[in-house]
Amino acid sequence: MSSMRLLMLSRSQVLALLPALFHGLAFGTTTSSKIATAWYAGWHAPGQAVPSLALSQVSWEKYTHLTYSFAETTADVREVSLSGSDPELLPSFVATAHAHGVKAKVSVGGWTGSLFWSSNVATAQNRTLFVKTLVDFATKYDLDGLDFDWEYPNVQGIGCNTIDVNDTANFLAFIQELRADPVGSKLILSAATSLSPFADANGDPSTDVSGFAKVLDYIAVMNYDVNGPWSAAVGPNAPLRDSCAPADFQAGSAVDAVAAWTAAGMPLDKIVLGVASYGHSFSVAKSDAFVKGSKTQLALYPPFNASNAPAGDSWDDQPGVDEGGNFESQGGVIDFWGLIQQGYLTETGVPVTGVPFIFDNCTQTPYVYNGTTEVMISFDNARSFAVKGEYIKSKGLGGFAMWEAGGDFNDILLDSIREASGVLN
Ligand SMILES: *[C@@H]1O[C@H](CO)[C@@H](O)[C@H](O)[C@H]1NC(C)=O
Ligand SMILES: *[C@@H]1O[C@H](CO)[C@@H](O)[C@H](O)[C@H]1NC(C)=O
Ligand SMILES: *[C@@H]1O[C@H](CO)[C@@H](O)[C@H](O)[C@H]1NC(C)=O
Ligand SMILES: *[C@@H]1O[C@H](CO)[C@@H](O)[C@H](O)[C@H]1NC(C)=O
Ligand SMILES: *[C@@H]1O[C@H](CO)[C@@H](O)[C@H](O)[C@H]1NC(C)=O
Repeated sequence: MSSMRLLMLSRSQVLALLPALFHGLAFGTTTSSKIATAWYAGWHAPGQAVPSLALSQVSWEKYTHLTYSFAETTADVREVSLSGSDPELLPSFVATAHAHGVKAKVSVGGWTGSLFWSSNVATAQNRTLFVKTLVDFATKYDLDGLDFDWEYPNVQGIGCNTIDVNDTANFLAFIQELRADPVGSKLILSAATSLSPFADANGDPSTDVSGFAKVLDYIAVMNYDVNGPWSAAVGPNAPLRDSCAPADFQAGSAVDAVAAWTAAGMPLDKIVLGVASYGHSFSVAKSDAFVKGSKTQLALYPPFNASNAPAGDSWDDQPGVDEGGNFESQGGVIDFWGLIQQGYLTETGVPVTGVPFIFDNCTQTPYVYNGTTEVMISFDNARSFAVKGEYIKSKGLGGFAMWEAGGDFNDILLDSIREASGVLN
């Protein structure tokens, strides 16, 4: 309606209005308290990985919430397991967060930890048991909240999850019961979600998630892994938008995800944008990597050799057998610090001189290439984080959630999105 009105005004009248409009926008954002959060992966703590992110190295003052990952679901609804995530460290994580005035949460599930989400909430009896499991867990560790990272309700994730047509309805009933609990009522509850609203009984995106909006504090839409080794061509890990990309390569984006969730009844200020401090690597022949006739300008959406998965950095998954017993080759995941370590970017996060680089102005994401190894990487940098931050601010989203805290280098990404999204506090 306001744009209709503007159409009827003269150009000078519009220009006169602009300062007021901007003031209105600025006022709206400075009074909101945005969420600035990231997941802390327990398996990247000192003693678990090289390099590592020690609690003392976390930039606590730059976050409002930090989420320890993962408490994995187990075959017994009465237990969740921290065994893959340095269980001894969790109490120090919570204490350190609290010492900095940061909310400490734990994420339940994850890619490898969602095997029993469905069975844990499948019946009224199990929901009651699982509520007790998580209430006891939150109490034991003095948590401020829980994040539900079920990948995914009524959509198969890793390949061996229990799954049921009623998953989404059962998930909602479970969260409602947790909210009715005296401890659960005080917890900050969030869900890490896919780009589409939780699948309904037909496997289609739910058209009404307003029930979830009532019981969750926020959702973190995991707008990453949109393209990876499973894709048909090299594409952005975390596109802001893709309506301007060739139709064959429109695989999902932040803008489309926000539109889908809001259309289903999730308020904008309860949508936190999930952002990635890592990228994906692809084997791309030199003859495909550049636009025709150029030796320097990288091509977008080139084909890649899926039989030749490049290694990422030292945090990348080694080839091996997954939780479902299926062989997986190395992931090719490279963190932002890995791009610097491997000589693609300088320590200020810009491309090293001579490294082929492109910033795709449609998806607003960068790519680099190594002509010797013939590896192309789609990733995020300070610019793509700034653009996402500006989107969060202009759209009135709830904030950002970065996977993962340890992927950044000298807070280049974190500082960029904090400034642009208006969460500076
Ligand atoms: C309920 O939980 C138990 C124990 O975790 C599990 O064995 C059972 O299969 C679950 N029920 C359903 C219907 O999934
Ligand atoms: C799904 O829920 C409906 C309604 O509660 C119930 O009748 C049906 O048996 C459930 N189906 C499965 C597969 O659990
Ligand atoms: C793809 O990679 C595999 C494994 O390294 C190699 O054997 C094959 O020749 C490559 N294909 C092409 C088209 O380069
Ligand atoms: C490309 O890979 C080669 C071989 O591993 C390496 O020596 C070189 O430093 C890399 N260049 C960049 C820019 O990453
Ligand atoms: C991206 O840049 C190209 C070349 O400058 C331009 O033609 C195109 O319209 C731009 N696309 C978007 C989405 O801004």
